[in-house]
Amino acid sequence: VGDLSSSDLKGKRVFVRADLNVPLDDNQNITDDTRIRAAIPTIKHLIQNGAKVILSTHLGRPKGVTPKYSLAPLVPRLSELIGIQVVKAEDSIGPEVEKLVASLPDGGVLLLENVRFYKEEEKNDPEHAKKLAALADLYVNDAFGTAHRAHASTEGVTKFLKPSVAGFLLQKELDYLVGAVSSPKRPFAAIVGGSKVSSKIGVIESLLEKVDILLLGGGMIFTFYKAQGISVGSSLVEEDKLDLATTLIAKAKAKGVSLLLPSDVVIADKFAPDANSKVVPATAIPDGWMGLDIGPDSIKTFNEALDTTKTIIWNGPMGVFEFDKFAVGTEAIAKKLADLSGKGVTTIIGGGDSVAAVEKVGVASVMSHISTGGGASLELLEGKELPGVLALDEATPVAV
Ligand code: 3PG
Repeated sequence: VGDLSSSDLKGKRVFVRADLNVPLDDNQNITDDTRIRAAIPTIKHLIQNGAKVILSTHLGRPKGVTPKYSLAPLVPRLSELIGIQVVKAEDSIGPEVEKLVASLPDGGVLLLENVRFYKEEEKNDPEHAKKLAALADLYVNDAFGTAHRAHASTEGVTKFLKPSVAGFLLQKELDYLVGAVSSPKRPFAAIVGGSKVSSKIGVIESLLEKVDILLLGGGMIFTFYKAQGISVGSSLVEEDKLDLATTLIAKAKAKGVSLLLPSDVVIADKFAPDANSKVVPATAIPDGWMGLDIGPDSIKTFNEALDTTKTIIWNGPMGVFEFDKFAVGTEAIAKKLADLSGKGVTTIIGGGDSVAAVEKVGVASVMSHISTGGGASLELLEGKELPGVLALDEATPVAV
């Protein structure tokens, strides 16, 4: 048993679980094909080596068979990117699927229908997993975005289908989000943002064990300010997390981590794109105003801190970047990381909103790694093990 690149693939039926859960608009057009593009290297490798690819994914969270969540809209883009016509099955198990698998030529690709059309998928029902497994000779998990779910097609299937190996995307995600984060080139900085400290507690605690510098931004900073007795006006505060913020600050100090909170903020008189705004020191937020972005002094200080680093991981925006007026801090960080990436710094964008920010600025291609996972990358950064990864025979994170 080896990894995907060393497996003998000629004529083998390979069950590939990908995460092609892409956003679709009201007309069923794909609005962001990143996840499809990310799955292509594994699929191409398989077809070039003469495998018969049985491709599976979920789309959305359907309850039973729901035409709106059919995978049909994915077929043209998939076929275009792979370079051959992908055949689509109307089901993910059963006699029709078996017939299509039997007639699949070496180097052909069959896309199974949405695996979540069966409730047994999310229940990780062993009988269901066995039926999926029976379709193939080899299992490849490349669905990083779903690796935190113990479902029939991500976890259960591995009990019945050996070998079970990681695809190239899954391996790359592990190399960066586990490998580079555990043995980073130092100094190592983390930038953590987002509106709520409650959703990032695990990430901050875990990163405090590893980083030299921690930069905090986004709505969560006001909970940290308030915990230090600073008035925050009507900014977002999680009152029940004030003690936790104090503990995290103390922990950073005890660990010798340089924790930087923004020194100035952009405040607004209402939560709206056309709000009146001004820049004030973080200690001078007037009543009735709320902080919606980090200010220019903070950007300068953050940039100076980042200039000293060799590895950076970023998760979460610095402000309300969906409003142009309050996107400056987030965009400045995206540009800074792009600049440092060009100078040899390892730059890792850990999923979710920060990925959207990097894409909006148009610097996605220069980053060392952009995660395709939301929940999955958060769980990895919290130091958790992912069931879809644990189930595999071999998936060894390496330091990059
Ligand atoms: C995601 O979009 O985060 C993944 O595809 C997982 O989807 P889920 O949260 O519905 O399991």
